[in-house]
Amino acid sequence: MLFQNDEEGRLVSPDFNRENDNETEISLRPKTLDEYIGQEKIKENLKIFIDAAVKRGESLDHVLLYGPPGLGKTTLAGVIANEMNVQIRVTSGPAIEKPGDLAALLTNLNEGDILFIDEIHRLSRSVEEVLYPAMEDYSLDIIIGKGPSARSIRLDLPHFTLIGATTRAGQLTAPLRDRFGCLFRLELYTPEELGTIVRRSAGILGIAVDEEGAMEIASRARGTPRIANRLLKRARDFAEVMGEGIITEEEARRALSRLEIDEYGLDSIDRRLLLTMIQNYNGGPVGLETIAAAIGEEAVTIEDVYEPYLMQIGFLSRTPRGRTVTGAAYRYFDLPVPGQQTLL
Ligand code: ADE
Repeated sequence: MLFQNDEEGRLVSPDFNRENDNETEISLRPKTLDEYIGQEKIKENLKIFIDAAVKRGESLDHVLLYGPPGLGKTTLAGVIANEMNVQIRVTSGPAIEKPGDLAALLTNLNEGDILFIDEIHRLSRSVEEVLYPAMEDYSLDIIIGKGPSARSIRLDLPHFTLIGATTRAGQLTAPLRDRFGCLFRLELYTPEELGTIVRRSAGILGIAVDEEGAMEIASRARGTPRIANRLLKRARDFAEVMGEGIITEEEARRALSRLEIDEYGLDSIDRRLLLTMIQNYNGGPVGLETIAAAIGEEAVTIEDVYEPYLMQIGFLSRTPRGRTVTGAAYRYFDLPVPGQQTLL
């Protein structure tokens, strides 16, 4: 089994399933690099690094995976473990509260094992400091006692691989970032890649979907496999209850319109964000915090979840002076583009 709990069921995988709407998601996760769709450049390089480490009989160098949520960072960590034929322990930054928690995890690893820390940017400073010598020298410095009689002892750790995942590489401290040997930025998926993922998931879950239905879902899933898989399951619900049980293009459209997701994959929050910028701030430039306050969402959520896709489809750009809405977004709302003559 790829994703293990530790003996007491503590720390490891507490929120591994938090973003999955049911348990089937685990079986949707590809196990090998060949099964993993998309992220081609990352896969090519990873294959080489994995082959080289296996050939030398060494553990893989520490890996940092970063990029927007839902793109398969945890899945990729599982694939790496499987390809290296080692065990993976899954935990997250906020779950490791004290240095002792991390020490317990590290001392339970076997040679070559992978420790996966999701949301690694949320580790506390004191925990991070334990991680530095662990990553660099595979050793753990433990302080025993307090005051003048305190002394430090050094424990040797197995050669493990740390895989850290974060939506925000910029928030990692420099000393932590510098200790990763492989850094990979995951990109949003193309509609074609998502179409392949939707067909694969439908096959695994026994969902009937035709080519056009799969592409309709894929093109509205904002570049994100997790969203594509979720839309697939909801489209199945609509198709089974209101239709013939097969997700055709028409069925997919019905489901998506009921879920208030438009042809571009935009939902009501995306639209509110863009319209607020257009109507209240003349399309920008406007600061992230100002937008966040105006629409009542957290700035980090806007930055991590909404902006990457709006930028990918060319509706929004980030500039040093703030965010701006593009002409394409004005046209999407059928509004005149500022500074552009309307043709009569
Ligand atoms: N399910 C979620 N992400 C996937 C991916 N990248 N490849 C295949 N199946 C997936």
